[in-house]
Amino acid sequence: MVKRLHNKRILITGAAQGIGLAIAKAFVREEASVFLIDRDETLLHSEVTALRREGYVASGQMADIIDAKTIAAALSQAETEIGRINALVNNAGVNVFAEPLETSDEEWNRCFDINLKGAWNCSKAVLPGLIDQGGGVILNIASTHAFTIIPHTFPYPLAKHALLGMTKSLGLEYAARNIRVNALAPGYVATQKVIDYWNSFPDPDAAKAETMKLHPGGRIATPEEIAMAAVFMISDECPFMNATCLTVDGGLSVQQHPA
Ligand SMILES: NC(=O)c1ccc[n+]([C@@H]2O[C@H](COP(=O)([O-])OP(=O)(O)OC[C@H]3O[C@@H](n4cnc5c(N)ncnc54)[C@H](O)[C@@H]3O)[C@@H](O)[C@H]2O)c1
Repeated sequence: MVKRLHNKRILITGAAQGIGLAIAKAFVREEASVFLIDRDETLLHSEVTALRREGYVASGQMADIIDAKTIAAALSQAETEIGRINALVNNAGVNVFAEPLETSDEEWNRCFDINLKGAWNCSKAVLPGLIDQGGGVILNIASTHAFTIIPHTFPYPLAKHALLGMTKSLGLEYAARNIRVNALAPGYVATQKVIDYWNSFPDPDAAKAETMKLHPGGRIATPEEIAMAAVFMISDECPFMNATCLTVDGGLSVQQHPA
């Protein structure tokens, strides 16, 4: 039986660990060919090797999404190895959290360069190919930070708000070209990024317990639960879903405050 992502050749950024890696694994299980990009070469190499050992069509290249030239080179390598890319997942992102007046220009730039400009660099690289092929899909991994604010997390939510804006803008611009551009907004997901966040508190266990308590279901998401939504959004099962955002946060962002 043909699987859900048969004939999809997908570039995924920030795919050496966390949500990006879970997405890559879920995609290959659905018969996609994947090309992983990450700036962590060692981790990337070991995960690509593991996927290939399991018989999946997977390849990858170290690249930093803030460098448009490196991304162009990685795309060209991807097309040589897995064929013309017809879908992109802009997943790479970093937490940059501070009190607004304590945010340095360097931190501001790092936040917007990676969380927004990086996604644009990759979209700009693949869009001509998608247009040429008569369609395709771009999925931006946003966050509940794209429409809500947690104090002291400045300027990360600003970049995620803008990523949502870019999703809507590109979704409208290219709808008539049969290109769907959507965002997926996870709440907290159990990845290294979140563990690092807990570890930034004097009492990491207390910080973790606080995070769990915030959630209506008393737990946070697994990366695999986010990947399941990504499979649906990249697949042909939602052909009229465009320029929108799917929230996968266990109900976190709709509650006024925890009970
Ligand atoms: N974990 C969460 O709770 C959570 C919640 C909402 C949204 N998100 C978003 O999901 C995405 C993935 O988050 P995660 O928790 O899996 O992160 P992670 O830190 O576990 O993994 C991110 C990966 O991206 C790579 N990366 C970072 N900057 C890069 C760059 N400039 N170029 C290439 N690769 C780069 C890192 O090397 C790493 O392998 C991010 O966009 C994040 O903002 C995460």
